[in-house]
Amino acid sequence: MQKNTTNQADTLKVWDLPVRLFHWALVSLVIGAVVTANLPIAYMEWHMRIGYAILTLLIFRVLWGIIGPYYARFQNFIYSPKTVLKYAQSLFLKHKDRHYLGHNPMGALMVFLMLLLLVIQAISGLFSSDDIFTDGPLVRKVSSDLSDFFTGIHHTNIILLIIAIIMHICANLAYWLFKKENLIAPMIHGRKEKKGAEDWVPQTQDKPVWLALICFTISALIVFYIVEIY
Ligand code: HEM
Ligand code: HEM
Repeated sequence: MQKNTTNQADTLKVWDLPVRLFHWALVSLVIGAVVTANLPIAYMEWHMRIGYAILTLLIFRVLWGIIGPYYARFQNFIYSPKTVLKYAQSLFLKHKDRHYLGHNPMGALMVFLMLLLLVIQAISGLFSSDDIFTDGPLVRKVSSDLSDFFTGIHHTNIILLIIAIIMHICANLAYWLFKKENLIAPMIHGRKEKKGAEDWVPQTQDKPVWLALICFTISALIVFYIVEIY
């Protein structure tokens, strides 16, 4: 952690382009997956294609969470239960906890939960079947009992995922309305005000876009292998 001693600009790029593209592509695709799953059966083909795209994004985010820039790296938003509790208390009590530029301890917990539920949703989809027209690409690799089990997970987990997403959106709106802190705009333009935050790092921690493209290509190839070759 660095101290702000020199004349620094007031804002810092916190969410790099790959994280922002990841987020808004994920939002569009999750909406697409839910919509196509509820349209006539002919749209299931599109549901599966969208599912593969989501799986690609999730693998990309895991790689970027390991080798990406400071604020994207998972290790920089893993907090101890004590820190999460202290932060949660501060939201409801008068005293202020420290201000975070990256995901705050509660937000981080929600991010990990959503990523986990999305991974479960996408993987269970690969083994799901409607027993009529549509089989996920890995259904033929498992017994019909196991496929039924994964189909059950796919049906139940979507409810948990939607609850988590609603909580996530409500939390973002509550920060805006009650804490007067707009977290949504930085997810669009990337920048946040450094004012009062201790967790700021020099911009040199940025990672080149070509590295993100390599991670994305690897992710797409992994999904291609699972769907077309395995
Ligand atoms: C399908 C719906 C959504 C999903 C699955 C989703 C998922 C996520 C994920 C995984 C992250 C972590 C980003 C990262 O570190 O890579 C995130 C962050 C964020 N999302 Fe969403 N999101 C959804 C909808 C929305 C909507 C509609 C908004 C705006 C109202 C929003 C605003 C944000 C913001 C502001 C952050 C950063 C929070 C922070 O500053 O810690 N999200 N979201
Ligand atoms: C995160 C990504 C995904 C989301 C949000 C999602 C969402 C859904 C939803 C909401 C349903 C309807 C469940 C119900 O009727 O209760 C469904 C069904 C289904 N999904 Fe997905 N899905 C995703 C990924 C996938 C993938 C990757 C595949 C396979 C390639 C897949 C294959 C299926 C199949 C075969 C069904 C029909 C199951 C049945 O009718 O019993 N899904 N999905």
